[in-house]
Amino acid sequence: MDGLKKHLNQSVQFKLSFTLSLAILVVAIVAGVVSFMSAFDEAHELQDDVLRQVAQLMDRQHLSPTPPIADARLKDGDEESRVIVQRLGDSSPSPVGVDAGGLLPLPTTLADGLYTLEVSGEAFRVLVKTTAAGERIVVAQESGFRNEIARGSALRTVMPFLVLVPVLLLIVADLVRKMFRPIATLSREIDQRAEQELHPVDERHLPVEVRPFVVAINRLLARVAQAMDGQRRFVADAAHELRSPLTALSLQAERLAEARMSGQARERLMTLRQGIERGRSLLDQLLTLARAQSAAEPPKSPVSVQGIFRRVLEDLIPLAEAKRIDIGVEGLQDAQVWVSELDMIAIVKNLVDNAIRYTPEGGRVDLSVGMAEGRAVLRIEDNGPGIPFAERDRVFDPFYRTPGSERIGSGLGLSIVQAIASRIGAEIRLDFASEARQTGLIVTVQLSVIAPSQAT
Ligand SMILES: Nc1ncnc2c1ncn2[C@@H]1O[C@H](COP(=O)(O)OP(=O)(O)OP(=O)(O)O)[C@@H](O)[C@H]1O
Ligand SMILES: [Mg+2]
Repeated sequence: MDGLKKHLNQSVQFKLSFTLSLAILVVAIVAGVVSFMSAFDEAHELQDDVLRQVAQLMDRQHLSPTPPIADARLKDGDEESRVIVQRLGDSSPSPVGVDAGGLLPLPTTLADGLYTLEVSGEAFRVLVKTTAAGERIVVAQESGFRNEIARGSALRTVMPFLVLVPVLLLIVADLVRKMFRPIATLSREIDQRAEQELHPVDERHLPVEVRPFVVAINRLLARVAQAMDGQRRFVADAAHELRSPLTALSLQAERLAEARMSGQARERLMTLRQGIERGRSLLDQLLTLARAQSAAEPPKSPVSVQGIFRRVLEDLIPLAEAKRIDIGVEGLQDAQVWVSELDMIAIVKNLVDNAIRYTPEGGRVDLSVGMAEGRAVLRIEDNGPGIPFAERDRVFDPFYRTPGSERIGSGLGLSIVQAIASRIGAEIRLDFASEARQTGLIVTVQLSVIAPSQAT
């Protein structure tokens, strides 16, 4: 009972279905009872009319219920359904009910009129009439039979209710469900959105009652989009503004390095230059993240993944060579993906940069692309330390670096990859390259090869 109450309070759909069904049931029961009772009374009235008409016929035709007539029990008819016509006083009261001649033992003192009398345990409807000839006649019928007929015809009037009520309940349930379908579709649509998809919800096909709510959500979405945009712009502007003085500093440090100085001063200058370089790469990553998080125009043409691999390797091969890392692309298969070139470069560059950076000297990094279930599958595999299970969610957080990682980095690379992936609908998976030894990392990126215009 408590569960029902809770459900009623929480679900408008359930409340509507429940109360409408209850109302229909109550109305149907009341209407059924009333129509049953009135049909029952009507049938009795009709039967009384029949008794009256028989009496009137006897009177008008000057017929007298002589013993042979009274004796002629309608043998071919049903015993119960017969109408008994007799002269009042023709039979003496008998404890066994209808006497041998089929006559009712009725008291002669009965005045003219209709009665329901109990004759030796059996109820009869009796009409007493004094004819024009002064004869007192009785027309009677068994009450049990009359009730049976009346009940039958009353039940027939209730029949339509019995059939229509379940149909009506089904129609109500279906109608209410259909009424709430737009709301279910709307929540599904909002649920499936990525964080960046803050465009307004289409309210045109929604019921008028829900529209103000959706309009309010749209206003909130617009405010959130504006706030997020402002925040992103601030990060991008700040990073951009900081770049110029850092570039100037870097140039000054470069020129300083040309000057003559002591070994100790040169050592300190080296640390200074490394710091400046770290600052520059942090700013670059911040700018890329700000761009990755903002909504971008859908690409006009697909890009080749092999082409992206080549461009990224051109940039990163010096880094790999410095660490004597054997880096290369496996296989010749290519895939054309509908992602902007800048986004693809940012994804692949950050993943390959990580693979080179976290793999020890003399290690191996392999890139490959293939197709699976109609999606392009990019794999970047290294034989470095890999990422433990416990760290796999956290490494995607901005500025998070796994404990003990002594390499220089800002902790933004995987956040950039994830921001772009969620915007373009790509899936990222991290696995050990060797499950047995729990080392090495395989990053798998799965993305659609279908143009956005074809996907919808
Ligand atoms: N291929 C890999 N092998 C082992 N650990 C990795 C690998 N790639 C990423 N990691 C771990 O995940 C952490 C987060 O990586 P992420 O790319 O986000 O940041 P970063 O490399 O430290 O900095 P950035 O890429 O911004 O310069 C890294 O600190 C590193 O510990
Ligand atoms: Mg990185």
